[in-house]
Amino acid sequence: MSSTAPAVQTFEDRYSLPVVETITDSPEEIRRKQERVRALAAERNAILLAHHYQRPEVQEVADAVADSLKLSQQAAKTNADVIVFCGVHFMAETASIICPGKTVLLPDLRAGCSLAAAVTPEELREWKAKLPDAVVVSYINTSAAVKAESDYCCTSANASKVVASIPADRTILFLPDKFLATVVARQTGRSNIVAYPGYCHVHKTIQPEQVSALLDEHPDIELLLHPECGCVSSCMAKAMDGTLPQDRTFFLSTEGMLRHIASSNATEFAVGTEMGILHQLNKKFPEKTFHPVNPHAVCGFMKTITLDRVIHSLETMTPEVRVPEPIATKARRAIDRMLALA
Ligand code: 13P
Ligand code: SF4
Repeated sequence: MSSTAPAVQTFEDRYSLPVVETITDSPEEIRRKQERVRALAAERNAILLAHHYQRPEVQEVADAVADSLKLSQQAAKTNADVIVFCGVHFMAETASIICPGKTVLLPDLRAGCSLAAAVTPEELREWKAKLPDAVVVSYINTSAAVKAESDYCCTSANASKVVASIPADRTILFLPDKFLATVVARQTGRSNIVAYPGYCHVHKTIQPEQVSALLDEHPDIELLLHPECGCVSSCMAKAMDGTLPQDRTFFLSTEGMLRHIASSNATEFAVGTEMGILHQLNKKFPEKTFHPVNPHAVCGFMKTITLDRVIHSLETMTPEVRVPEPIATKARRAIDRMLALA
């Protein structure tokens, strides 16, 4: 990969991380709140879309639980009047851009994303000015204003497919995730990808030593690693030189992990991503065993969405996320190009 990338290297001062609240509701209280959510959703003609990193009781009440790509596709096809996004801000913005006529609610506006905070539209404009002929591919984990400055959007499920669709001689500015950029460069065989130096503060903590330790303890496991993980460069190199089993090391989106497990004969898996996904994995595959690579990988932004906040949101029809024109129209171009390829 080329090194003509912005000089900023740390981004922690750009966001404030919500503290993860412990919910002490009894199973009966949870059931009662979930019933209230369902009743309100019916009253408002609302659909609840939840990401895999949501709290289990929120996942359980949702109409769909999926990765960023599938949730965008669900938003695009729903007939509901209201979308309650149980996820983070950039996901709600994306739904609002795809469905301008619908009301999109995000139950807690603190639900940001450290990766999305890593790049501003001004920084992207400066970067583009240095490489004016390059094609800009932005990860879905960006603000609408950044997407509006981009040629293509992508998610972890289709990043390589999107990049492969761009003529091989065109330089690509890939942002903001440097780890995903490494995976895409390797998978597409391109050397003209210039990576922005951003990262997710949660996935960055998933380290190669933790992967190796799990493999030592459970030699037959398959390794499922999200491409945002801090370990991807090292694990890709180790899979190539045989230090990690190449045929059992996979770089997958959260939905990709579920699909892979469904078709795999393996019974034990190392899971390198945010802990919330274990709820779906244990529910859908009770006969298989999952070992989190880093059990401390918890996203405080995702966990701001609680049943109480979903109820409050549906009762008050706030907080609403709406992307203003002309940003929405410009960002829609990049998102539509992705959805057409997906
Ligand atoms: P996917 O669910 O698209 O793999 O994305 C992971 C993520 O970090 C969402 O914030
Ligand atoms: Fe953003 Fe990371 Fe949280 Fe996903 S896990 S929402 S990338 S901070």
